[in-house]
Amino acid sequence: MMNKMKIYIINGPNLNLLGLREPEIYGHRTYEDLISYLLKEAEALGAELMCFQSNHEGKLIDIIQEAGENAEGIVINPAAYTHTSIAIYDALKAVNLPAVEVHLTDPSKREPFRKVSYVKDACVLSVLGRGFQGYKDAVKYLVENYGCQS
Ligand code: DQA
Repeated sequence: MMNKMKIYIINGPNLNLLGLREPEIYGHRTYEDLISYLLKEAEALGAELMCFQSNHEGKLIDIIQEAGENAEGIVINPAAYTHTSIAIYDALKAVNLPAVEVHLTDPSKREPFRKVSYVKDACVLSVLGRGFQGYKDAVKYLVENYGCQS
C-alpha cells in the first residue's frame, strides 16, 4: 500500500473570489468548486491535500513555514504576490520542500507587470494557463517525482 504524499495547496489574494472575480478571465467556478474538485481527485492521485487561502502575505508565509513541518510538498498560486514577493520566495527556499507554482491563467500573456515571477526559482515546476486542471497536474507531478515509493 503506497503512502499518500502530504501536500499543502496554498492560494493567495483574491482567489477566494473565484467565480465572482473577472469571470471572463478566471471563469465562473468558485474557490469552493476548486477545493472540492481537488479533494475529489486527491485519492486517485495518491495525495493527502490540505488547502489554504489567504489575502495576506505574512499569513501565506506562516502557512509555507507550517508546510515545512507538516507536509512533503507544496502547490502554490501566490496570485499577485507572484510578481512582488521576495518574502514568499525566501519562505519557499527556507522550507526546502518541492513546490510547484500554479496559475489559472498564463501571466506571461497578460499585462507586462505580470511577466516576472519571483517565486519561479524557488519552485521545481511552473504550471501556467491550465485553469483548475493545472492544480491537479501539479499534484500529480509532485507525487510522481517526490512521492514515497514504498
Ligand atoms: C493568477 C495570475 C496573477 O497574475 C494574478 O495576480 C492572480 C491570479 C492566476 O492564477 O492566473 O491573482 O495567479
